[in-house]
Amino acid sequence: MYGHCYGCKICNGRACGSTIPGPGAKGVGDVAIRNYDMWKQVRLNLNVVYEAGPVSTEVNIFGKDMAAPIFAGPVGAVQLHYGDKFTEFEYNDLLIKSCIEAGIIGFTGDGTDEQVLRAAAGSIAAAGGQGIPTIKPWHLGTVGAKMALVKGAGAFAVAMDVDAAGLPFLKGKNPPAGPKSQEELIEIAEMADRPFIVKGIMTPRAAIKAVKAGAAAIVVSNHGGRVLDQCPSTAEVLLEIAEAIKGSPCLVFVDGGIRDGVDIFKAIAMGADGVLMARPFVNAIYQQGYEGVLSLVRRLKSELEDTMLMCGAKTIAEISKDMVRIPKLWQHYDAEGN
Ligand SMILES: Cc1cc2nc3c(=O)[nH]c(=O)nc-3n(C[C@H](O)[C@H](O)[C@H](O)COP(=O)(O)O)c2cc1C
Repeated sequence: MYGHCYGCKICNGRACGSTIPGPGAKGVGDVAIRNYDMWKQVRLNLNVVYEAGPVSTEVNIFGKDMAAPIFAGPVGAVQLHYGDKFTEFEYNDLLIKSCIEAGIIGFTGDGTDEQVLRAAAGSIAAAGGQGIPTIKPWHLGTVGAKMALVKGAGAFAVAMDVDAAGLPFLKGKNPPAGPKSQEELIEIAEMADRPFIVKGIMTPRAAIKAVKAGAAAIVVSNHGGRVLDQCPSTAEVLLEIAEAIKGSPCLVFVDGGIRDGVDIFKAIAMGADGVLMARPFVNAIYQQGYEGVLSLVRRLKSELEDTMLMCGAKTIAEISKDMVRIPKLWQHYDAEGN
């Protein structure tokens, strides 16, 4: 156990429940559990009647060659949530560098303590800009200052977790932090002046606004259940969101309860271009440090390869919706909520 985390073998939100500070979820704590459970409701169509050949999980995202479409998700304020084992800088440094060696990319987090983003920017600068800082939805003036910090670090892309509007510590801020309009997102994307990623999209309507604001990618995410109790899992809304912005240049990433290569395959089949995983990378680092990340990515990649082989996809681009069975009960909504 580290801090408030039990370091469970299967990180499914059950043991940590609603523990915040700690890795838990808000309210009754069932959104993190639902995130995990709903990927398991999607089943795979086993199909090995095809001409065999090498299977590759490699992709190119934002001009970066990646070993697989996997990102380490942003986790800010690690000392608050996980205790004193690592400082903010040590955690980010281990994460960003090990992700690079593993052939993937790490996101970093933000917090009320300005040292959190400062440490993240330091780690990304030390890695030649090969990481994605995630700025909270502060007042635009504060966003401007934080944007200057991460651009100074040479970050090749920048994200904003707009859903952090639901974190208790952002409430009552002066100047006010919180939801961002399409016009404000346009301004923030212009400030970023590099691929800008909007994290925390859970409806087609919000996705369309992010696209109109010029987002290079959205992350379908409910912040691991930490910002709004009783919302659906990300698996349940992924398909309708991906369909709503199909044909736009905006990429779709997803996170929440994705724990193995099989889940990654399902997410891609349902319209994602890549996935983020947050808590599993924390566990990897707290349990085994740098080597923990390398071994986690090796496992994910090999599970993804195996699933591709068994479902008939030789490349990530070949993974398609007909390779999975999605529960019919999952009602779909369009941008008008119909
Ligand atoms: C302790 C903790 C801190 C987090 N801090 C941030 C953050 O600073 N910025 C952010 O965008 N998301 C943050 N997240 C949310 C994760 O990036 C991710 O969206 C969420 O945990 C779901 O993914 P998972 O189920 O793989 O953990 C945090 C999550 C946890 C558990």
